[in-house]
Amino acid sequence: MPAFTAAAPGKIILFGEHAVVYGRPAIAVPVAGVKARAVVSANPRATAGQVHIQAPDINLETDLDKLPGSHPLAAAVRAVLTALGLSRSPACLIRVKSTIPVASGLGSGAAVTVALIRAYSAFLGKPLPDEKVNALAFEIEKLHHGTPSGIDNTVITYALPVYFQRKPAGPTIETFNVPEPFQIVIGDTGVRSPTAVSVGDVRKGWQAQPEYFERLFDKIGSVSADARKIIEAGQPSQLGSLMDENQTLLLQMGVSSDALDRLIQAARSAGALGAKLSGGGRGGNMIALLSDNTAEVVVQALKDAGAVRTLLTQVKGR
Ligand code: MEV
Repeated sequence: MPAFTAAAPGKIILFGEHAVVYGRPAIAVPVAGVKARAVVSANPRATAGQVHIQAPDINLETDLDKLPGSHPLAAAVRAVLTALGLSRSPACLIRVKSTIPVASGLGSGAAVTVALIRAYSAFLGKPLPDEKVNALAFEIEKLHHGTPSGIDNTVITYALPVYFQRKPAGPTIETFNVPEPFQIVIGDTGVRSPTAVSVGDVRKGWQAQPEYFERLFDKIGSVSADARKIIEAGQPSQLGSLMDENQTLLLQMGVSSDALDRLIQAARSAGALGAKLSGGGRGGNMIALLSDNTAEVVVQALKDAGAVRTLLTQVKGR
């Protein structure tokens, strides 16, 4: 019996993190250089219905029925069974591997979930369409980080740049043209920072000072809207100042950190057109917009300033 494999890319938020949880638009793009992969195959040595899961990146090797229902891998398997109207699984082996660093703003959890849902539903003979994969992955994201906006699972499912806005009746997900591709560098502070924590802290801040936070969210929302127009107009070098503006607003929201600020300053001083944190903040990744031929210098400056990893990625459309 063949093995069923699916892969999903990482993601990076260009504009609008945190404000997107509160209904403002944000822009996120896939990062193809890192990937999560799931392989599901029949397991002839297993007892009936035994679903064995191997996830070496998180030192996990166990049977599905030994995992708590709230475990994201178990929840993803069970969500697929429910979606397909099956009460139990045929015996199988599920292997999950990922090159996406965890808790750093690159969407590792969502990518593993999307790859697993795709490979497992294909193994069961009923590959789920993107819309359903995305909806199930959103439910699992809630286990990973409490009150997600849904942008991570969306950009990872569709593997295209998205302009995303959460609305009471469900999100609007728009893809848009990128007539002039552009390059960004991602710099990792090496400080692991679970999104749930920074999202929770922003919520506490918003509850304590609603007007202050709503004003910040509004300003970030307009930055995202302006950024989309600039990208669509094929003028990506103008995104730099918007990145800087977005970073100032994130700083005022309290989600930057010394390590992030150090990398952001280093990138700007080395000639990047703009830079900001990306994702939940407090640690994890920052991004910087590169102009022609500056990649090498900016990458070196990030390393000198303490980045534990750098990744160059091109933002392009379909
Ligand atoms: C995390 O990648 C982005 C946040 O805006 C949280 C979310 O949208 O769910 C911080």
